[in-house]
Amino acid sequence: MSILKIARIGHPILLKKTNELKDIGSEKIKKIVYDMSETMIDYNGVGLAAPQVHLNKRLFIFRNPDLEETKEIQITALINPVVEKISDETNEAWEGCLSIPGMLGLVRRFSKIMYSGYDLQGNKITNNVEGMHARIIQHEFDHLNGILYTSRLAHKDAFGYAEEIENYWKKNEEN
Ligand code: NI
Repeated sequence: MSILKIARIGHPILLKKTNELKDIGSEKIKKIVYDMSETMIDYNGVGLAAPQVHLNKRLFIFRNPDLEETKEIQITALINPVVEKISDETNEAWEGCLSIPGMLGLVRRFSKIMYSGYDLQGNKITNNVEGMHARIIQHEFDHLNGILYTSRLAHKDAFGYAEEIENYWKKNEEN
């Protein structure tokens, strides 16, 4: 396995719509997913989409926040995903992205979604989720369509270095 180079905001691959994966279950795709997993763990991320490692494919991996924390990190790969909102309800929360290191932005997302796709073995996955799980899926799905969270900010000023956000925004939110 190897740690892959992550494309940062400004790299054109992050703005491209990705192509459907044809060879689900192949050794090549397994190797990509293993390398992406190692990369995500090394960077301490909760999700990583193929374009972020310079691959123009409809594939992302994520850590399921609904699963109990165990010693082993559980990572799900979702291939050729479809995502739909279940209701119009939305919520705002701060998001980071490994392609925008050190920064946070406040993003409005749908609270409840359904998603489907294929896992690494080619089995169909279907899930109804909410909260953080729904947010991670929407963020990663956006990457497959060339969309970064910076173009979905809840307010145009709600973006900045994580330290400043912690000091000046999150403290105010608590008051
Ligand atoms: Ni991201």
